[in-house]
Amino acid sequence: MLKLHEAGDFISITGDIPLNGEFTVRGAKNFVSKVMVAAILAPGKSVLMNVPKIRDVQIVSSLLRLHGCAIEYDEENGVLEIDASQVVQPEIADVETLAGSSRIPILFCGPLLHRLKSAFIPNLGGCVIGGRPVDFHFEALRRFGAEIDVQEDGVKITAPNGLKGAKINLPYPSVGATEQVLLTAVCVDGKTELSNAAVEPEILNEIDVLQKMGAIISIDTDRTIHIEGVKSLRPYEHIALTDRIEVGSWACAALATHGDVFLRGAKQSHMTTFLNTFRKIGGEFDIHDDGIRFYHPGGKLNPIALETDVHPGFATDWQQPLVVALTQAHGLSILHETVYEERLGFTKALTRMGASIQRYKECLGPTKCRFNERNFEHSAVISGPTKLHGANILVPDLRGGFSYLIASLAAEGESKVYGISLIDRGYEFFREKLTALGANIG
Ligand code: EPU
Repeated sequence: MLKLHEAGDFISITGDIPLNGEFTVRGAKNFVSKVMVAAILAPGKSVLMNVPKIRDVQIVSSLLRLHGCAIEYDEENGVLEIDASQVVQPEIADVETLAGSSRIPILFCGPLLHRLKSAFIPNLGGCVIGGRPVDFHFEALRRFGAEIDVQEDGVKITAPNGLKGAKINLPYPSVGATEQVLLTAVCVDGKTELSNAAVEPEILNEIDVLQKMGAIISIDTDRTIHIEGVKSLRPYEHIALTDRIEVGSWACAALATHGDVFLRGAKQSHMTTFLNTFRKIGGEFDIHDDGIRFYHPGGKLNPIALETDVHPGFATDWQQPLVVALTQAHGLSILHETVYEERLGFTKALTRMGASIQRYKECLGPTKCRFNERNFEHSAVISGPTKLHGANILVPDLRGGFSYLIASLAAEGESKVYGISLIDRGYEFFREKLTALGANIG
């Protein structure tokens, strides 16, 4: 804690002030980083617009540069150019410098196999919110014909006999594994059928990009994706969809602080489930052509029973910000996290701030999830309303970190939130946005 303090990696927030104001939310972290990787598939210059200045974009840019791509980023206009005319095999030692930085490197497998016939992927990072294995990714790659050699510092992937279309059924609709299959299948020899795929808006938008590049992809109503391999792809030009998780996070901040924020760029169609939940709790929103206004209309907030799920369910990434708002609802809210086994640890600090949250190992919801009877505290009962008070807290992960900002904004007194550089991974200019909304930060 002291070390983080010395490094200036903290923010102090004096709370109990409603957030009021507006700003623009730019492209989605969990989309932009993936289509940056897709650029490798096509020799030439791809152009991505509405790109936020977040650390995940910097990490993927570094990895692309190491592989020979030229990158130009116009921060103000959010325009990112990726020239993948040349793709080269970097020194393994250089790739290793990015080990532990993010989960995106695993998606380089297919594109690098297509361009270089082999890939070395550094050990992955990303938020610690459960085991986060990549077994589905490796199983899918093996089905395409890849050989995987897990080494101490990373994974070497080759395809001595080339890659062929495959029939793949995911044990769980994993976002990353679906993207792995898409980014590999588009250029293999033959057809691929992916069943039990994830269909998050970011994935559908990635499919749009791949189609622009020349891919042939169709989706059945039962979430089966068909990909016909093509010989080559061309660069793309695309405007990234707005970050629906960032929008939901700020909406929860407005609700928990009795505030009123207009988020330019927010799109209703990507947020249907969130909006329904927000309204059931007692929050209000107005949909405009250029964004959504979220506000606390006055009166009591209502408790809710909620399960996180894959799209179109309530996204797990909205869960942590929403929990803070639920500490202000009148009654018992019940939460069942079904996507990650360990995404409720962040609630311990909220309890220190005055929240009443009990965690349970049982499934507190109708969905029998993968964590039933597996000793993970993945359900919670939140009893409200409780007045929160300031505390010194350490950011545990990206979304948990943002939820600590919300708790501090809603709390009486001063909080110090340490380790906030983690929040820069996914929330662009969050300090400036807090100031613009009238928060008292230092
Ligand atoms: N899983 C496996 N094996 C695999 C892959 C996944 O067991 O090979 C499990 C995971 O352990 C998890 C579940 O399947 O329990 C879902 O994981 P998924 O693969 O869908 O997650 P991901 O692709 O690693 C992305 C986002 C996450 C978001 C999830 C779910 C990125 C970079 N990350 O992760 O975002 O929570 O999908 O929607 O796109 C965040 O932004 O804070 C974040 C964690």
